[in-house]
Amino acid sequence: MEITLRHIDKRFGKVHANADISVTFSEGKIYGVLGENGAGKSTLMKILAGFQPADQGEIVVDGKPREARLHFGPTESIRSGIGMLQQDPLDIASFTVIEDFVYGSGARLTMGLREARKALKIQCQRFGFDLDQESPVSHLTIGQRQQLEIVRLLALGVRVLILDEPTTGISAEQKETLFSTLGLLAHQEGMTILLVSHKLEDVVALCDRVVVLRAGQVVGEREMPATTSELVKMMFAEELPPQSRQAVTLGKKRVALEDVALRGRRVSLEGLHLSLSSGEVVGLAGLDGSGQDLVLRAAAGVIRTARGRVTVDGRDMTGKSYRQFRQAGVAFAAAGRLEEGLIAGLTLTEHVALGMPGALVKWRAAEADTSERLQRFNVRGRPESQVQQLSGGNQQRFLMAIMPANLALLAVEQPTRGLDVDSARWVWTQILARRASGTAVLFSSPDLDEIIQYSDRVIVFFAGRFIELADLSGVSIDDLGHLIGGQFEQANHA
Ligand SMILES: Nc1ncnc2c1ncn2[C@@H]1O[C@H](COP(=O)(O)OP(=O)(O)OP(=O)(O)O)[C@@H](O)[C@H]1O
Ligand SMILES: [Mg+2]
Repeated sequence: MEITLRHIDKRFGKVHANADISVTFSEGKIYGVLGENGAGKSTLMKILAGFQPADQGEIVVDGKPREARLHFGPTESIRSGIGMLQQDPLDIASFTVIEDFVYGSGARLTMGLREARKALKIQCQRFGFDLDQESPVSHLTIGQRQQLEIVRLLALGVRVLILDEPTTGISAEQKETLFSTLGLLAHQEGMTILLVSHKLEDVVALCDRVVVLRAGQVVGEREMPATTSELVKMMFAEELPPQSRQAVTLGKKRVALEDVALRGRRVSLEGLHLSLSSGEVVGLAGLDGSGQDLVLRAAAGVIRTARGRVTVDGRDMTGKSYRQFRQAGVAFAAAGRLEEGLIAGLTLTEHVALGMPGALVKWRAAEADTSERLQRFNVRGRPESQVQQLSGGNQQRFLMAIMPANLALLAVEQPTRGLDVDSARWVWTQILARRASGTAVLFSSPDLDEIIQYSDRVIVFFAGRFIELADLSGVSIDDLGHLIGGQFEQANHA
């Protein structure tokens, strides 16, 4: 199905999120939709998928124009053949997989339950998706939720599939499965696929054509192949110099986990020893839910250990609350920014005020402080904005902006999730600056490049087992890829 956007325009107050955008998406192709954080990609995709109306413009679907300022709603859009996977999927968590497949939000299938079970099974086999029909949706990984949403949209008959940063938070295997599915849908079944992504390697590997947005406008289009640096140049109008990582001499021990046991919903860990010194960066690698999330949270005091001891700057913190960990100089930043780090409905100033000492909030001071932080951390938003109004990348920047100074430990889950290349480098500059001033850094990432580039040491997790790589010289991305798949023997022989 061919789709043409004509003169799409959308403002949010003073922000001109989409400024007169005209572009055509042809059938049988995979399009990469690129652009820096806040460029207007999600806004445009949401307009296309009926999640929000535009102020002006037309959407032409298979030759039939409709006014983009009419609020269609996602259900109506799906009926017209356009379906979208949301950046942060919000399923109805009490449903099972099969219930979500049939009754999920947006639209519902007209088939009965028995027929639906069969249809779901066939689709899953076809794409190599790994979904247990009776499992509650709340137990699925992000990758599995995505798979469910894709088969649901296909069963509803969509011919245009929009994916907004689908590879953040899914494993390498799930990504491979996803990409081969998208290739099959576009190149064999003639679907139109729009992929919003900051992972330029993914775009290079998958897309047939790219459309680049900057400040709400289309600033470039080209056929692939192109190199990642050519794409960077289109996005930022300049090439980015390589980032240097200074050597730092390690200082005193800041945080230690001693013979710790951890119990998670999916995995448990036993006998973990981990000590982090001042100036040290330790990366945690592993497929989604292999145990690295537990270690990160235990070190930061967000969850308690089942056994063993946790110390911060020599003080025994075992069993203490996250609040007490914070007072001891520990900060935690979660990957699901809105779930654990930021609170939807609160303004930026209110977030800053929450971190201020004392029971009475001095609002004038809080607002001035917020303005200053927004400027220093280059956050595009105003003190009175609510956090959910910030673009994904700006939420991450804001999270960095409200972290206290001089930490003993900074524990960050997927520090650059959803960030454009430039912002990702900026976040690491901030993290490395903290490291240089004596903070120990513990982070997890599904991005193996990021793990290798920034870690002094790496711990690899697989289904609750773990192995430490103390020396990263000679460890390739491929080696690490095998390790996170559970092939630990290789490392022992190396
Ligand atoms: N509901 C909203 N209310 C107010 N402003 C909004 C809203 N949605 C988006 N914006 C603003 O519109 C601009 C474009 O946002 P959009 O989410 O489309 O960017 P994006 O290209 O998807 O960025 P990212 O790569 O960070 O996801 C941003 O400045 C953003 O803050
Ligand atoms: Mg976006």
